[in-house]
Amino acid sequence: MISFTGEHILSVNQFDREAVERVFTIADNMKPYAARQKRTTVLDGAILGNLFFEPSTRTRVSFGTAFNLLGGEVRETVGMSNSALAKGESLYDTARVLSGYSDIIAMRHPQAGSVAEFAQGSRVPVINGGDGANEHPTQALLDLYTIANERAYFGHGIDGLHIAMIGDLKHGRTVHSLATMLCLFKHIKFTLISPKDLSMPTHICDIIVNSGHELIVTEQLEGIVEADICYQTRVQEERFETQELANQYRGKFRLNQQIYTQHFKSQTVIMHPLPRDSRSEANELDNDLNSHPNLAIFRQTDNGVLVRMALFALTLGVENTISDFDQEVHWYSNKSKK
Ligand code: CP
Repeated sequence: MISFTGEHILSVNQFDREAVERVFTIADNMKPYAARQKRTTVLDGAILGNLFFEPSTRTRVSFGTAFNLLGGEVRETVGMSNSALAKGESLYDTARVLSGYSDIIAMRHPQAGSVAEFAQGSRVPVINGGDGANEHPTQALLDLYTIANERAYFGHGIDGLHIAMIGDLKHGRTVHSLATMLCLFKHIKFTLISPKDLSMPTHICDIIVNSGHELIVTEQLEGIVEADICYQTRVQEERFETQELANQYRGKFRLNQQIYTQHFKSQTVIMHPLPRDSRSEANELDNDLNSHPNLAIFRQTDNGVLVRMALFALTLGVENTISDFDQEVHWYSNKSKK
């Protein structure tokens, strides 16, 4: 299992429960820095190579923000066409070159397995920011961290959780990674709601069943009843051969206040990895839930910074010395009041 310092983070399969809980403990320690109550320069001089060969808002920017909050600098490469990959350079050569310019690399790429292939050529640790429809391990950690916090609010732990995952479970790498990581915990009930053609891959269902958890597969949204967490997803249009094929699934499972009132129990927490598709033909998670206290989607995005700070600190071996480099914040900030 992962021991963090100097290691790549490529897959949720590297984690056991102890490693997950270690990340959560360090993430908790990051709260005063993310809230701008104080700052640290523990990574002063370190460089993050932030390589995003597929569109991203929150993963790319939260990786960069997390590194900046630890005092490090960020060098970005965004878009395949802006790199020599577009000229036929291999992932191995790209990794050899860019790892000479960085202390650590975060990377997203549209092909499954590409980040692991890149890591083979890298001389510094590589963190997977999403490889095709395969995995998104840091999203799984921030989702699980959010689940732990939301459950704690209602006096529960992760063990015994009932989670409903909804939508494009075939192409959604976040649900693949989250479901696998949840299997490290005890007595989890999974209700997987999707059109038959977009169902969870068999190998993930096998992990759920073989690790002794309860699995219900349905095409009916009514399966949501009694779930503690409702994890909604977007139709991953970029994984379909044509937009027409993706269009037939858009708007199939919409969540809004009326659905929540009709089908959910009062403590059900709504999550979504984002982006949500807000176009009228999809609108899988309606704005009329934006003020709902159990809508956790923006707590997830804030937690992404804490978890990625924790992963940088652990991977670069500074998790115990962060406060040795504390400095005061001397600009106006009301972040901690939000
Ligand atoms: N959740 C997620 O991966 O979002 P981005 O695509 O914006 O990074």
